[in-house]
Amino acid sequence: MTLSPPVALEPLYALSDQALQERIAQAKAQLAERCVILGHHYQREEVYHFADLTGDSLKLSRLASQRTEAEYIIFCGVHFMAEVADILSSPAQTVILPDLAAGCSMADMADLPHVEQAWQALGQVLDCDQVITPLTYVNSTADLKAFCGEHGGSVCTSSNAEKMLQWAFAQREKVLFFPDQHLGRNSSHRLGVPLEEMVLWQPSLPNGGLSEAEIRKARVILWDGYCSVHTMFQPAHVALFRQRLPGIQVIVHPECSFEVCQLADDRGSTEQIQARVRAAPSGSKWAIGTELNLVNRLKKEMPDKEIHFLCPTVCLCSTMFRIDLAHLCWVLENLLHGQVINRIKVPEREAASARIALQRMLNVV
Ligand code: 13P
Ligand code: SF4
Repeated sequence: MTLSPPVALEPLYALSDQALQERIAQAKAQLAERCVILGHHYQREEVYHFADLTGDSLKLSRLASQRTEAEYIIFCGVHFMAEVADILSSPAQTVILPDLAAGCSMADMADLPHVEQAWQALGQVLDCDQVITPLTYVNSTADLKAFCGEHGGSVCTSSNAEKMLQWAFAQREKVLFFPDQHLGRNSSHRLGVPLEEMVLWQPSLPNGGLSEAEIRKARVILWDGYCSVHTMFQPAHVALFRQRLPGIQVIVHPECSFEVCQLADDRGSTEQIQARVRAAPSGSKWAIGTELNLVNRLKKEMPDKEIHFLCPTVCLCSTMFRIDLAHLCWVLENLLHGQVINRIKVPEREAASARIALQRMLNVV
């Protein structure tokens, strides 16, 4: 029987944002150094405000491995990020995700049984452990990182995908990249791999929908996964901005399609996009292709620049959005009562293999 926590979630929804903010500030002050709040750039503004440290996935992974003094790491982001924090933090630390339903729909597009099935099917054609390096985007479950750890592979983020692909090619001649086909395709192409040497592995089809000849010829095997937020950005949106505002610079996240990335002036992780726009001269014009919360924040922060959201419709990461003031208040106040809510704990055997894969990445970049 699970006992109800000392502080219930439901009544917190009856409170105003101001009341919640006051309670969060108070709980945070009382917990002091015992607790650190990490916030991803896509978090809604009122939650982001309470983050002690912010960043993209790579920066947050590093921070999680360095902030060993905090007893609790509250991760305002999504599930796979909290898993990475748990894997890289010290055993004495506890990682908490304020809402367990904050997942990543792209990460859900690849699971261990299907990846193992693919590895086996590819093994009918090639000697996988000699020829293929598995490389998982950090937006994936811990067991897939463990799979990479156990098969000589590693992890990449949007800010180091090209370097990690170079690393992967230095190990073996081919790469199996999952779950994001777009990041895999965009980054491989930038390294000079022609599109004809990339194939798409469709996990629902026998042999991924590929012939033996296609598998042999491929240098990169891309998993058929994508981000539903970033695939909203279209080439027509880029064209429209260029027509309306000559001189505008278009910068996008590499989870966008190949066509959109090809048309953009620049691409980068959330941290890199932020840094690029911050460093630009006053008066410069930007159209940004990434999640709305980050773009709105940059707009507000830099009124001296003309900043636009690349898509005419709202592209919001609905799972990131699940972390709200009520959930943050709920987990913090329960900590004050000695109760841990929504702990993220990766089983140690899985964590050990995943750590190997992550450590290979952290050693490279
Ligand atoms: P970053 O690592 O660039 O922050 O990206 C994380 C993510 O999920 C983008 O959709
Ligand atoms: Fe996942 Fe896309 Fe949300 Fe990033 S924006 S967390 S890839 S669903």
